Amino acid sequence: MAEEYGFGNPEIIEEEVDILLIGGGMASCGAAFEIGRWLEKMPDLKVKLVDKAALDRSGAVAQGLSAINTYMGENDPADYVRYVRGDLMGIVREDLVYDVGRHVDDSVHNFEEWGLPIWKQKGDESKKLTEGGKPVRSGRWQIMINGESYKWIVAEAAKKALGMDRIEERVFIVRLVTDKNDPTRVSGAAGFSVRDNKLFIYKFKACLLAAGGAVNVFRPRSVGEGTGRAWYPVWNAGSTYAMAAECGAELTLMENRFVPARFKDGYGPVGAWFLLFKAQAMNAFGEDYQTKNYSILADNKYDTYADGMKMGTCLRNHLMMKEMREGRGPILMDTPTAMAKLAETMTPKEVKHLEAEAWEDFLDMTIAQCGVWAGENIEPDKEMSELMPTEPYLLGSHAGCAGIWCSGPDDIPGTPDYYHWGYNRMTTVKGLFTAGDGVGASGHKFSSGSHAEGRIAAKAMLKYAMDNKDWKPEMSRTVDELVEEIYRPVKTYLEHKDYTTAIDVNPHYITPKMLQFRLQKIMDEYVAGVSTWYQTNAKMLEIAEKKLVMIREDAQKMRAKDLHELLRAWENYHRILAAEAHMRHIQFREETRYPGYYYRMDFLDLDDDNWKCFVNSTYNRDTGEWSLKKVQYKQLVKYDGESEPEGLARDGSPV
Ligand code: FAD
Ligand code: ADX
Repeated sequence: MAEEYGFGNPEIIEEEVDILLIGGGMASCGAAFEIGRWLEKMPDLKVKLVDKAALDRSGAVAQGLSAINTYMGENDPADYVRYVRGDLMGIVREDLVYDVGRHVDDSVHNFEEWGLPIWKQKGDESKKLTEGGKPVRSGRWQIMINGESYKWIVAEAAKKALGMDRIEERVFIVRLVTDKNDPTRVSGAAGFSVRDNKLFIYKFKACLLAAGGAVNVFRPRSVGEGTGRAWYPVWNAGSTYAMAAECGAELTLMENRFVPARFKDGYGPVGAWFLLFKAQAMNAFGEDYQTKNYSILADNKYDTYADGMKMGTCLRNHLMMKEMREGRGPILMDTPTAMAKLAETMTPKEVKHLEAEAWEDFLDMTIAQCGVWAGENIEPDKEMSELMPTEPYLLGSHAGCAGIWCSGPDDIPGTPDYYHWGYNRMTTVKGLFTAGDGVGASGHKFSSGSHAEGRIAAKAMLKYAMDNKDWKPEMSRTVDELVEEIYRPVKTYLEHKDYTTAIDVNPHYITPKMLQFRLQKIMDEYVAGVSTWYQTNAKMLEIAEKKLVMIREDAQKMRAKDLHELLRAWENYHRILAAEAHMRHIQFREETRYPGYYYRMDFLDLDDDNWKCFVNSTYNRDTGEWSLKKVQYKQLVKYDGESEPEGLARDGSPV
């Protein structure tokens, strides 16, 4: 082959394994740990984990975290289901949520075993959780940690479990390939190194697609000097949803999104302030807008899923946004009063410690917020800080539930057939599994639940690989085709770069950066981004649809002048498909199910009569068409006060 690709033809590395893990975040690290436990018993098992970044600092936990948001402890997983269902406005896959709830604590216990410092109540400091040590809870489900090195610790365990020769870092997976003999089955994946001129082709029996959610689909609030800052980690560009969709997997609740209310400009977390420090947020006039606005929830039936003042994340946003839209902003977090109240019963030394904790909450997970405080001379004990709802993100493990439709566990009473058709956490494509942000209709797993879910999926994948021991994967596309496709942006650049003198301006190609701006503008202005205060309607969505189809076409003209741009090009391609899924689901669901996340202004009510259901979609890669349908929701866990369905008691067994 001629030297077509400027920096030389890529070296092609082909490998056949039993199980491929795509992504190196919490879910994949959980899967790696679980598989590690079986490697001794299955010495012939071939496994590879591929991460586009470096495992130690990749994914949403990269900067560290200050809390583990899902730990059952004394709680019943059935109550956890009630909490998640309420937060996500009544529609979740209760089988999947329950499954996470009954297994999550074992992952947390392992984290502590591996060295993660978990805050303990006075007197219990030297006791581990497994020894009865009582954690410091910030809320009913959350426990506080010293988590700056959380990802290092979890990654180290994953590395030890698999060994570094089974891990490939800095390889970006671009696409999945179905099997030549069975188009409903996945058998391959292709990607490239973001550091070296190498292309990787993997064939496998089973694959875990756990590449997180999607950031930078919408125009962010941080522009200009702040460009690049976002709440969600920059690695996760919708690869999970795009690759699954292109492979034929059914997606679910892709209309859902997460709009975190955050400390303005630095995207600092609010959980510790609200729950641990008991701080109050108020409008510009010092009013408690949540109490003041509570009654408006009834106007559009949004109160259906509010339990008095206990309400879900999107409803809290809804009440806050009313103030901002109507000119009573900014919203302020009253940090001085909260700290003064806490200090009332403290010694000066304890007060100093409290101040340190206030900073550490950010230093552990969102260092940029400390930059804002320091840069703007904000002392939290003296001055309030602004809160702001951010741009939307697509994810399935935080306070959101977009994702892939998965088969659930087989032992939960009342589960309908269409919740369980095969191996746990397998998608509608045979051999394709997911976990963490990938699993739809099952939010509030957070870091610990994603790790536990990776382990659940790994066990099912091991069984799948064993059950298909003699099956040989044969990809439906040739290696040459895949190389041609993946390196096309490089070829486009080389063919046309001399046409103009300024390499960024060229009628034959578009830079990935420009294309990203275009996508963000479309999503922001038509699909309920920040510029319309999260509002859209059928007409706006119709325009978005037209523009998104065109941008998908234009994406074929992205150029890559180096490997970094090649990465950016393919990230954008994944973002476009994720964005399109999101838009089409919003278009299909003719109600406002998630006020505070987005509003269908032409269907402003929550409409349980017609829409208490999942919306599922499939994408046809050959025709570029989407099809959408309603899927019945099934309640498995009773509401408070009703008696529990038989068999739903906690079993407490490890994963
Ligand atoms: P991630 O952990 O994000 O991992 C995704 C992985 O995929 C990364 O390794 C990435 O490099 C890789 N990847 C992406 N695309 C590709 C590709 N194409 N090819 C190869 N690899 C790819 N949880 C808590 O418990 N407590 C908290 O305080 C908390 N705070 C949070 C704060 C923020 C800002 C965010 C974003 C999340 C927070 N969470 C918290 C939630 C938690 O981090 C996530 O639930 C969890 O990380 C999800 O796990 P995951 O494996 O699905 O995704
Ligand atoms: S995180 O990104 O740091 O994890 P955040 O700080 O917003 O997010 O939330 C941490 C946990 O606290 C999550 O479980 C979230 O649902 C919960 N939480 C945050 N704010 C509130 C609130 N005002 N009321 C109840 N729960 C909250």
